[in-house]
Amino acid sequence: MTKQLTARWSSRWAFILAATGAAVGLGNIWRFPYLAGSNGGSAFLLIYLICIILFGLPILAAEIIIGRHTRNNPVNALQAIATEHNTSQKWQLLGWWGVIGLVLILSFYSVVSGWSIAYFIKSISGNFKNITADQAGQIWGDFLNQPLSLLGWHTVFMTITISIVMRGVNKGLEKTTNFMMPLLYLILISLVIFSCSTGAPKQAMKFLFTFNLHQITPGIIIAALGHAFFTLAVGAGAMLTYGAYAPKNINIMSSILVVAILDVLVAILAGMAIFPIVFAYHLAPTSGPGLMFVTLPVSFAHMHFGSLVSAGFFLLLFFASLTSSINLAEPIVITLQTKLQLPRKTASTIAGGSAWLLGIFSLLSFNIWQNVKFLNQNLFELISNAATDIFLPIGGLGFAIVAGYVLKKKITEEELQSSGKCIYTLWRTLIRYLVPCGIGVIFIHVFL
Ligand code: TRP
Repeated sequence: MTKQLTARWSSRWAFILAATGAAVGLGNIWRFPYLAGSNGGSAFLLIYLICIILFGLPILAAEIIIGRHTRNNPVNALQAIATEHNTSQKWQLLGWWGVIGLVLILSFYSVVSGWSIAYFIKSISGNFKNITADQAGQIWGDFLNQPLSLLGWHTVFMTITISIVMRGVNKGLEKTTNFMMPLLYLILISLVIFSCSTGAPKQAMKFLFTFNLHQITPGIIIAALGHAFFTLAVGAGAMLTYGAYAPKNINIMSSILVVAILDVLVAILAGMAIFPIVFAYHLAPTSGPGLMFVTLPVSFAHMHFGSLVSAGFFLLLFFASLTSSINLAEPIVITLQTKLQLPRKTASTIAGGSAWLLGIFSLLSFNIWQNVKFLNQNLFELISNAATDIFLPIGGLGFAIVAGYVLKKKITEEELQSSGKCIYTLWRTLIRYLVPCGIGVIFIHVFL
């Protein structure tokens, strides 16, 4: 039996905050609006919500159960389960699969988080005062065309992430996680009110909430499925790792429900802050990763105290991404630390360094390597889509099988005891039948 991890969150709330911090991030405020914009709006939103409820939540519970039962990093957790249940040690590969997925995600996550630091600086320097939509686009274009400065911000962000992770669970992760989350909600809500009163809220509502089943395509389904995993931070063992630090008395189901509700709410608020501006200024909803960075500055430009609100927004976005990037890095670090018997500092440096290097590929695909394409995608698209749409759903499927079929019923029953029998039966049915069949059918349909 491998040695168990001893670190623990100090309370139920510390756990919920850390998990919400992991969930809420760029995925909600930057990625959701641009994916929804490029994938038909409401069609994407509908499938994304369905995927969160039917796949995301049950797998989130599964990961936390596996983590808390084994109290180990993803690789050792699966090794311990295989030993305990006399099954194949190959299950460890699922842990490594997750760790690789996390390195891929952390690489581009840090690049984009760097953008929010740069936009914070631009805001306090008053760059967005009285700008037009065209000028906002221009600022964005010029910004992307400076690889060295992008590299600088990417480096700053990765260094901050790694220096926090180095300090360990309580001192590093817990203290930083989420102390600014309420403020983020406040600023988001005021942005929604502002864009709805000055922009085109009716068109935005129509775009996001008028469901039209004909719009749904296989491409939308796979993007929404991947994003549901991405936003809940499931499928790669990251939540498994946070579960490993969770005290026994925590009610898993009620905790993850809080996390998921807060998570979805931020995405919808972000959509309602961005799309009224998109339609009012005739910007393209399909403009991709730059969507947030060209729309919100237009709002800020016309607001009282716009520079201040803008600075506040980008600062909070930075904090939200930091609590997510910590969650991305922690499982990689703890796996390297225990597997290779490295000091935490060395493990953190290796994890951060590899993701940093890989991030350079994404970074250059916004400028010098703009036209370098494989399968019609640039390197950023390739890395982010492969990690999100392939690594996470397959990893999630793996964790579902482990929790539903490999783990003894008694163990999962015990872990979910406090939620009552009905919820347990519902979870077990979803994780054993619906999740594997659903993900299987979607993959076969889309990729074959
Ligand atoms: N959920 C985060 C966001 O929406 C990203 C994230 C954090 C993540 N930890 C993760 C994605 C683990 C996949 C796996 O921004």
